Amino acid sequence: MSGTSLDGLDVALCRIAGSGLATTVSVERFATVPYPEELKAHIRTIFAKSVIDFEKLCLLNPFIGRLHGQMVLDCLQSWGIQPAEIDIVASHGQTVYHAPKSQHRRDKFPNATLQIGDGDHVAATTGVITLSDFRQKHIALGGEGAPLAVYGDYFMFTKAGENRILLNMGGIANFTYLPANGDANAVFTTDTGPGNTLLDAYARKFLNRPYDEDGQLAAQGQVNIALIDALKENPFFDAPFPKTTGPEVFNVPYVEDAQVRSQTTGLSEADLMATLVQFSAETIVDSIKRVIVPGETYRIYMSGGGMHNPVLTKTLRQLLPDCTFGRTDDLGIDGDAKEAVLFAVLANESLAGGHTSFGDRQGVPTVSMGKISFPK
Ligand SMILES: Nc1ncnc2c1ncn2[C@@H]1O[C@H](COP(=O)(O)OP(=O)(O)OP(=O)(O)O)[C@@H](O)[C@H]1O
Ligand SMILES: [Mg+2]
Repeated sequence: MSGTSLDGLDVALCRIAGSGLATTVSVERFATVPYPEELKAHIRTIFAKSVIDFEKLCLLNPFIGRLHGQMVLDCLQSWGIQPAEIDIVASHGQTVYHAPKSQHRRDKFPNATLQIGDGDHVAATTGVITLSDFRQKHIALGGEGAPLAVYGDYFMFTKAGENRILLNMGGIANFTYLPANGDANAVFTTDTGPGNTLLDAYARKFLNRPYDEDGQLAAQGQVNIALIDALKENPFFDAPFPKTTGPEVFNVPYVEDAQVRSQTTGLSEADLMATLVQFSAETIVDSIKRVIVPGETYRIYMSGGGMHNPVLTKTLRQLLPDCTFGRTDDLGIDGDAKEAVLFAVLANESLAGGHTSFGDRQGVPTVSMGKISFPK
C-alpha cells in the first residue's frame, strides 16, 4: 500500500485464515520502505494534477510496478523468507488521481480513480501471483472506489457490545463506524477531509521536510478561527456519508484561497500550521459527531501516520472528551500497517469468493475486488 502521503510503500506480511466475518489475520512482519526523494519528485509531477505530462504517467506505471515488486523482494530477503513461500501479493498501487463525481462535476462521466504500478509488473518482478487494482470494481458497481477500509474493518474489528470507530489518518482522514449491534446495514466508512496532506504540503514549504515531526511547528502557533471558518466553506463537509476526497481538492491553493477570503494572508508559519492541524481535527470530529448518540459510549481506534502527531491527537481528545482513544495496535494490528493489511484481506476475500452483504449503504453489493496477474 502506498497512500497519498507518498512517504513510502507499506509492506505487511500477513497470515490469513477464513474469510468474511470469520477472517483471522496475523501480521507476521511489517515495514515501510521509504520512497527516495527523486521518486517522490517524479510522482509529484503527475500527482493529483488535472494537466500533466502524459508520457511521464505512462512511464511511471510500469516503473512503479517493478519498483514495488522489488521493494517486496527486498523486504522478504531482509526477513529471511523466500518468495516461493508467499501465496499472493496484494498490490494497491500508487494513487495518482481521485475524482468522484461530486468533485469533477461532469455530468456524463462516472466516479473515477487511478492507481498506477500495474500488477503484471509486480507479478513478473516477484514471481508471485498478484492481485491489484482493487478500486475499479467498487466504482464499476456504483461506489467511489474509496474508502475500501469498510470491508476489512468490518471483518477484522467488529465487536458485539462495543461501538467502535476506526479512525485512519493518512494524507486524507477516514473512519469506519462499527456499531455494537453488528448491524451490517449501519456499518460504513467515509473520508472526513484532510488528515496530513495540508500539514505535509506546508512542512515541505516552510521546513523543507516531508512532515512537521511531532507537530513541533504547529505546537508553537495559535489557531486562527477566521481561517478555520473559511477552510470549512466547502460542500464536501456538508455532503452525506459515505464520501471521498483527495489532495486534488485539499492543497496549497485551497488554503491560499481561504486565506484571501478570511484576510489572513499575513499569518506566521507556526500559526498557519496550528490552524491546519485544528482544521483536520475539527473536520474529523464534526464527522464523527454525526454518528455519535448521546449517552452511548464509543471507542476510537487510531491508525495511520497522523496518530504520531501529538498536536493532532491532543486536539481530537479535547474535542471528543467522552470518547475513549486507543490505536488499532490495541486490537492486534499495528496502526502503521493497517491500511496495507486491509488490502491483503480484500485479496483473500476475492480468492475466497467473498459474498458478505453490506446492505445498501455502500451502494456496492460485493467484496470481490482486484485483478489477477500471473508471473509468466
Ligand atoms: N512523528 C510524526 N509527527 C507528525 N506527523 C507524522 C509523524 N509520523 C508520521 N506522520 C505523518 O504521517 C504521514 C504518513 O501517514 P500514512 O503513511 O498513514 O499516510 P498515507 O501514505 O497517505 O496512507 P493512506 O492514504 O493509505 O492512509 C506522514 O506524511 C506524516 O504527515
Ligand atoms: Mg504511507
